Amino acid sequence: MMQNYHDLIEAYLHECFTENQPQKILFESMRYSLLAGGKRLRPIFVLAFCELCGGSTNSALPFAAAIEMVHTYSLIHDDLPCMDNDDYRRGKLTNHKVYGEATAFLAGDALLTAAFGQLASADLPSERIVEAVRVLSLCAGELGMVGGQILDMDAEQRVCTAQEVYDIQSRKTGALISAACQLGVIAAGGTKAQQNAAAEYAGHLGLAFQIRDDILDVVGDADKLGKATGVDERKNTFVRLYGVEECEKMVAGETQKAIAALDCFDNADFLISLANRLITRES
Ligand code: IPE
Ligand code: IPE
Ligand code: MG
Ligand code: MG
Ligand code: MG
Repeated sequence: MMQNYHDLIEAYLHECFTENQPQKILFESMRYSLLAGGKRLRPIFVLAFCELCGGSTNSALPFAAAIEMVHTYSLIHDDLPCMDNDDYRRGKLTNHKVYGEATAFLAGDALLTAAFGQLASADLPSERIVEAVRVLSLCAGELGMVGGQILDMDAEQRVCTAQEVYDIQSRKTGALISAACQLGVIAAGGTKAQQNAAAEYAGHLGLAFQIRDDILDVVGDADKLGKATGVDERKNTFVRLYGVEECEKMVAGETQKAIAALDCFDNADFLISLANRLITRES
């Protein structure tokens, strides 16, 4: 099923930004990062939650593509010299290394903008599209991912408390994962209670996911990860506060809480096993 969701998304994204336009360097740079082979976790959440709530995967594909576009833009900007200054992403040179900083900024801008066009293009009742716009905008913007990124940057100057680290991570990483899970419920026309349960699952899973990312920065293999390791030493992470071993327990604990949030769904086996697999992910 994982492969199935993954292939559906991959095929859909391959059809995006293919028009022959004078600004083809922009299209090329957008596709360079978008098609570089990420895990597609967030769009997989969209499709899985949509099916869980009785919707069809095809109807949710524009929502799935939208979240992957926002995520990819966040990575392009996160890697820029003025932010994390990274040279490798998804096993390839970072966008600015290939296209230059100005084009990398613009490719990110265009991906973010196109994401909202994707939401609007979905063949779904308009009230679901409006709710999707509200959720994605809230989770991606100043209160969500972008808000988390600025807190993450500011925090490089000092040592944060656990509560502060939690706040940074739930915004910079948790918020987009939450948007993904909620978009799936919204695409299917699920209930508010289901949307809240999806957000609860995502909150715990997003935290587990970022802690695992920070563990892999210390003990991971750069080839498997497709990005450099050992680059977050000055960052405020739970790994810095508590060490790797304690953090492995936190990842397992948060994953259990994520799974418990799925109690209200009938057949959540796929999302349960996905959460469990992420505990020990190496890429
Ligand atoms: C990387 O996200 C950024 C974090 C929030 C840790 P992913 O690990 O999902 O990256 P891709 O999409 O697979 O490249
Ligand atoms: C990612 O945090 C958060 C984003 C919004 C991109 P990191 O800076 O730890 O992500 P990686 O390690 O570069 O993928
Ligand atoms: Mg960063
Ligand atoms: Mg980074
Ligand atoms: Mg990281």
